[in-house]
Amino acid sequence: MNKYLAAKVSELNVNPRKIVQVNGLEIGLFHIKGAYYAWRNICPHAGAPVCQGLISGTTLPTHVYEYEYGLEEQVLRCPWHGWEFDLTTGKHLVEGSKTKLRGYEVVVENGKLYVLMK
Ligand code: FES
Repeated sequence: MNKYLAAKVSELNVNPRKIVQVNGLEIGLFHIKGAYYAWRNICPHAGAPVCQGLISGTTLPTHVYEYEYGLEEQVLRCPWHGWEFDLTTGKHLVEGSKTKLRGYEVVVENGKLYVLMK
Protein backbone atom coordinates (compact mmCIF):
# COMPACT_ATOMS: atom_id res chain seq x y z
CA MET A 1 0.00 0.00 0.00
CA ASN A 2 1.29 3.46 -0.87
CA LYS A 3 0.64 6.53 1.24
CA TYR A 4 -0.27 9.77 -0.59
CA LEU A 5 -0.50 13.21 0.98
CA ALA A 6 -4.05 14.47 0.33
CA ALA A 7 -4.60 17.59 2.48
CA LYS A 8 -3.91 19.28 5.79
CA VAL A 9 -6.31 18.42 8.61
CA SER A 10 -7.01 22.16 9.01
CA GLU A 11 -8.43 22.30 5.47
CA LEU A 12 -11.41 20.22 6.63
CA ASN A 13 -12.08 22.13 9.86
CA VAL A 14 -14.56 24.66 8.48
CA ASN A 15 -15.87 22.84 5.40
CA PRO A 16 -16.18 19.08 6.02
CA ARG A 17 -15.46 18.27 2.36
CA LYS A 18 -12.49 18.78 0.06
CA ILE A 19 -12.09 17.29 -3.39
CA VAL A 20 -8.48 16.51 -4.26
CA GLN A 21 -6.38 14.69 -6.82
CA VAL A 22 -4.54 11.71 -5.37
CA ASN A 23 -2.36 9.49 -7.52
CA GLY A 24 -4.24 10.67 -10.63
CA LEU A 25 -7.70 9.97 -9.14
CA GLU A 26 -10.30 12.48 -7.98
CA ILE A 27 -11.09 11.80 -4.33
CA GLY A 28 -13.57 13.41 -1.94
CA LEU A 29 -12.18 13.82 1.58
CA PHE A 30 -14.82 14.13 4.29
CA HIS A 31 -14.66 15.01 8.00
CA ILE A 32 -17.71 13.35 9.55
CA LYS A 33 -18.29 13.27 13.31
CA GLY A 34 -14.59 13.40 14.16
CA ALA A 35 -13.35 10.87 11.60
CA TYR A 36 -11.94 11.23 8.08
CA TYR A 37 -13.07 9.36 4.98
CA ALA A 38 -11.89 9.25 1.36
CA TRP A 39 -14.30 8.30 -1.43
CA ARG A 40 -13.71 8.14 -5.18
CA ASN A 41 -15.58 10.96 -6.91
CA ILE A 42 -17.49 8.64 -9.24
CA CYS A 43 -21.05 7.54 -8.49
CA PRO A 44 -21.50 3.76 -8.84
CA HIS A 45 -24.87 4.36 -10.54
CA ALA A 46 -23.92 6.31 -13.67
CA GLY A 47 -20.61 8.02 -13.02
CA ALA A 48 -21.61 11.44 -11.64
CA PRO A 49 -19.17 13.44 -9.49
CA VAL A 50 -20.95 12.10 -6.40
CA CYS A 51 -18.65 13.79 -3.88
CA GLN A 52 -20.01 17.18 -4.97
CA GLY A 53 -23.51 16.22 -3.80
CA LEU A 54 -25.49 17.60 -0.88
CA ILE A 55 -24.43 16.47 2.60
CA SER A 56 -27.48 16.00 4.83
CA GLY A 57 -29.47 13.41 6.73
CA THR A 58 -32.23 11.20 5.41
CA THR A 59 -35.49 9.54 6.33
CA LEU A 60 -34.84 6.26 8.08
CA PRO A 61 -36.63 2.95 7.43
CA THR A 62 -39.80 2.91 9.57
CA HIS A 63 -43.28 1.44 9.64
CA VAL A 64 -45.97 2.77 7.32
CA TYR A 65 -47.13 6.32 8.27
CA GLU A 66 -44.10 6.85 10.52
CA TYR A 67 -41.38 9.29 9.52
CA GLU A 68 -38.03 9.48 11.24
CA TYR A 69 -35.15 11.67 10.13
CA GLY A 70 -31.60 10.66 11.04
CA LEU A 71 -27.95 10.32 10.04
CA GLU A 72 -27.74 14.13 10.10
CA GLU A 73 -24.66 15.46 8.22
CA GLN A 74 -23.67 11.86 7.38
CA VAL A 75 -25.46 11.28 4.07
CA LEU A 76 -24.14 12.20 0.62
CA ARG A 77 -26.80 12.68 -2.08
CA CYS A 78 -25.62 12.23 -5.67
CA PRO A 79 -26.24 15.39 -7.72
CA TRP A 80 -27.53 13.54 -10.79
CA HIS A 81 -30.27 11.14 -9.62
CA GLY A 82 -30.32 11.52 -5.86
CA TRP A 83 -28.96 8.19 -4.73
CA GLU A 84 -27.94 8.48 -1.08
CA PHE A 85 -24.78 7.06 0.49
CA ASP A 86 -23.65 6.81 4.11
CA LEU A 87 -20.42 8.81 4.27
CA THR A 88 -19.06 6.65 7.11
CA THR A 89 -19.49 3.31 5.29
CA GLY A 90 -19.97 4.22 1.62
CA LYS A 91 -23.13 2.10 1.53
CA HIS A 92 -26.01 2.97 -0.77
CA LEU A 93 -28.96 3.68 1.51
CA VAL A 94 -31.54 1.36 -0.03
CA GLU A 95 -32.56 -1.78 1.80
CA GLY A 96 -30.91 -4.80 0.24
CA SER A 97 -28.55 -2.79 -2.00
CA LYS A 98 -24.98 -4.09 -2.18
CA THR A 99 -23.77 -0.96 -4.00
CA LYS A 100 -21.07 1.11 -2.30
CA LEU A 101 -18.83 4.06 -2.98
CA ARG A 102 -15.22 3.13 -3.67
CA GLY A 103 -13.28 4.08 -0.57
CA TYR A 104 -9.71 4.41 0.66
CA GLU A 105 -8.23 4.33 4.14
CA VAL A 106 -7.23 7.71 5.56
CA VAL A 107 -4.29 8.11 7.95
CA VAL A 108 -3.71 11.25 10.04
CA GLU A 109 -0.10 12.15 10.83
CA ASN A 110 1.32 15.43 12.08
CA GLY A 111 -1.71 17.46 11.03
CA LYS A 112 -1.84 15.96 7.55
CA LEU A 113 -4.24 13.52 5.87
CA TYR A 114 -2.80 10.68 3.83
CA VAL A 115 -4.77 8.30 1.59
CA LEU A 116 -3.63 4.69 1.27
CA MET A 117 -3.77 3.17 -2.22
CA LYS A 118 -2.11 0.35 -4.13
S1 FES B 1 -25.17 8.97 -11.24
FE1 FES B 1 -25.34 9.06 -9.09
S2 FES B 1 -27.41 8.57 -8.70
FE2 FES B 1 -27.21 8.40 -10.85
